[in-house]
Amino acid sequence: MVGLARQAMNLDNLWRADFPAMTSTMNGEPLVYLDSASSAQKPWPVIDALINAFKDDYANIHRGLYQFSQVKTQKFEAVRGKVAGFINAPDPNTIVFVRNSTEGINLVAQSWGRSHLKEGDEIILTELEHHANIVPWQMLRDQIGVILKIAPIQDDGALDLEAFKTLISPATKLVAVTHVSNAIGVVNPVKEIKEIIVSFNPKIKLLVDGSQSTVHGPVDIMEFDPDFFVFTGHKLYGPNGIGVLYGKYEVLDTMPPYQGGGDMIEKVTFEKTTYKHPPARFEAGTPAISEVIALGAAIDYLSEIGMSKIAAKEQVLLKYATDRLSEIPGIRIYGTAPNKIGIISFTMEGIHTSDIAMVLDRMGIAVRTGHHCCMPLMQRFGIEGTVRLSLGLYNMHVDIDKFIEGLKKVRELMG
Ligand code: ALA
Repeated sequence: MVGLARQAMNLDNLWRADFPAMTSTMNGEPLVYLDSASSAQKPWPVIDALINAFKDDYANIHRGLYQFSQVKTQKFEAVRGKVAGFINAPDPNTIVFVRNSTEGINLVAQSWGRSHLKEGDEIILTELEHHANIVPWQMLRDQIGVILKIAPIQDDGALDLEAFKTLISPATKLVAVTHVSNAIGVVNPVKEIKEIIVSFNPKIKLLVDGSQSTVHGPVDIMEFDPDFFVFTGHKLYGPNGIGVLYGKYEVLDTMPPYQGGGDMIEKVTFEKTTYKHPPARFEAGTPAISEVIALGAAIDYLSEIGMSKIAAKEQVLLKYATDRLSEIPGIRIYGTAPNKIGIISFTMEGIHTSDIAMVLDRMGIAVRTGHHCCMPLMQRFGIEGTVRLSLGLYNMHVDIDKFIEGLKKVRELMG
């Protein structure tokens, strides 16, 4: 363990130097950034790519016959292929650029949902879902009368697969689940979920929210073959405002546009408009050109390091942090299932989570507190919220040490 930890330490230092924000101070203290599940810091290659995309050859894409526009179009479209490779999607045309995971799910709900579902059809979600994978389906329910069924979790945060099976019925049309819980870090068994669905009815669609999974280790979507998969750039060490919707081409091709506008049409007259094929059909208006290019740089950066290496290092730190938390009296961790990524969510007996956050903030330590956009999950645990530590590839043992010192200070100040 010590050998592993030391090895991880060396890797820590190597990667940390790539992230200029990690040398910042907050409240006059060196920054201890433990909120990467919310949004990750950016490495130099991403920052440089974003600056250069605005500086060197800026132009709109898909529209100009001049060189800058043509070159920019090529750079933009090349990222589609990179993204496809990153998640092992079969074809760049299955990749739709959206603003974030939230927009990806809303697109599926409004485009696929409204055109393929009817009153009484059933959608299964889980208790682990982020609001982004609950609210769009509630909106659809209110619009067309679909029924939402919620698969429960066990006390350790793992999905109750037996209970999940009992929810599937002849009316089930979609299962929409998170790959990894943003609030408690537990990994959903998406491969088994897919097998269960297929054994019941292969026509049931599967949507997987990969916002957290893509960040913490290698993801090969072919292992669970979803119909839809979403993730977001800003958690993947890339820019804000850019996300990805993967859809099986044959499914995307049956879906109407989500928004209308420029670049998604074949022909427009005042009487009638015909649309391009996917993915262009779903990318109305000028897209986030520079952000897509910088997302490509993030993917290159991560691929060069290797997602398996990132996952291995994170598991060492996760264990270290979990072990050290036992030094603090009154800690209760939520999400203790064995299969989890570098997120630890906990409460401290007798102390409100926002008081903990306040003390940590003064010490330069950034964590997220509250319901983590998972109010139903908090209700399941009978709490209002937790303190959540979430790891990025730049975190080091010393960050955990400072965090534990911070919690000891909280205990000292607040009893
Ligand atoms: N979904 C993000 C989080 O978990 C914002 O913090």
